[in-house]
Amino acid sequence: MRLRALVGLAVLCAALVFTFKVASPVGRAQPAKKVPPKKSLFPPDGPKIPRGLVEIVWPDENPYTPEKAELGWLLFFDTRVSSDGSVSCASCHAPEHAFGDGKPVSTGIGGQKGGRSAPTVINRVYGAAQFWDGRASSLEDQAKGPIANPIEMTSEKDAARAHATCVDRLRQVKGYRQRFKKVFGTEKFTIDHVAMAIATFERMVLSGNSAFDKFKAGDKNALTESQQRGMNVFFSNNARCDSCHDGAAFTTNQFANIGIGMDRPKPDWGRYNVTKKDADKGAFKTPGLRDISRTGPYMHDGSLKTLEEVVEHYDKGGIKNQWLHQDIRPLKLTKQDKSDLVNFLRALDGEGWQQFTAPKALPK
Ligand code: HEC
Ligand code: HEC
Repeated sequence: MRLRALVGLAVLCAALVFTFKVASPVGRAQPAKKVPPKKSLFPPDGPKIPRGLVEIVWPDENPYTPEKAELGWLLFFDTRVSSDGSVSCASCHAPEHAFGDGKPVSTGIGGQKGGRSAPTVINRVYGAAQFWDGRASSLEDQAKGPIANPIEMTSEKDAARAHATCVDRLRQVKGYRQRFKKVFGTEKFTIDHVAMAIATFERMVLSGNSAFDKFKAGDKNALTESQQRGMNVFFSNNARCDSCHDGAAFTTNQFANIGIGMDRPKPDWGRYNVTKKDADKGAFKTPGLRDISRTGPYMHDGSLKTLEEVVEHYDKGGIKNQWLHQDIRPLKLTKQDKSDLVNFLRALDGEGWQQFTAPKALPK
């Protein structure tokens, strides 16, 4: 009995194999389609570092895990982080604007306008301090700022309450409770956990492998002739752009007064507000320059619309004031130098960050 059943089964199997493998015209005629392995947004060992950038140093107190980075990505795009559900981090740091907002100053909750321009989140992992005046020392610290800022993401006047109500809202979402539990081991997560997840995601938003990086790696055709001349202007002893915009992210992370807004009756004192040192009046953090063609308008107040205007600003020696940095002085660039310099800045457009668009679905 048993043997007969087995034989029967074997015959059946053979028949099936024959039908699908040999006899089926579909199976035979079509060569197997190569499906590329799905690339994970959040690889187990962290992001692949684009050419031209340096390795990421993950903080000991907040190491990388793929689940944490993914959670941060969801939170970054979730308007439920704001008190009336109208604004997310991505409202002002949008992928379609290279993680800036494309406006001179940002609009937050209830349509309120702030006084400063939204910087890009790209390559912030290489920043020593966050915000234009460097008042946050880490991305974790920074992320808590907008959530408690009454003109950005909350209607609460008090930071502790703003953070508590944000956490309450997120804890009501089952999908978030599960994810926080998996990442941090607790469903009773705090604002610090929220900030840690968001910061982990932000550290993956990178830009490298630009035409400039390819040129440096030996591809002599990667830069046009104009861009090569512009590169020489950039690094020249006259313009000395690299005395402040140096390193993998094109910033030394120093603060400098280059005169922006100093002709206003009440200038933004920038770094001075943090240090209270007179020498820091009107000084702002030197921004990185990667993807700079995509993140206009420029400067802390968004006052310069184009890269041409930025170059004009430097060429004329900035805006005179008693705190102006010594390297900011008339450069006497020719028309050709100026357009070459702008073309070179465009060669710093890179890749990496483009993979992070809005999630298709948020936790429920
Ligand atoms: C209403 C618009 C708005 C929202 C919403 C917003 N930001 Fe910003 N962001 C800004 C502006 C404006 C600045 C610069 C403020 C300053 O320097 O004083 C900034 C600065 C930053 C910086 C510092 C960048 C640098 O170069 O120093 C980071 C990082 C950042 N935001 C991330 C976030 C995260 C994370 C969230 C969500 C929790 C968020 N932002 C929500 C407008 C916004
Ligand atoms: C003394 C330091 C210093 C030098 C030299 C310098 N920069 Fe800057 N750069 C800064 C600072 C600081 C800011 C931001 C100023 C502000 O917003 O008030 C800035 C802003 C910029 C921006 C706008 C960035 C943004 O995200 O809005 C561009 C573009 C730029 N610089 C290009 C150049 C070029 C090109 C040169 C050479 C001609 C140059 N810089 C020389 C310090 C410097």
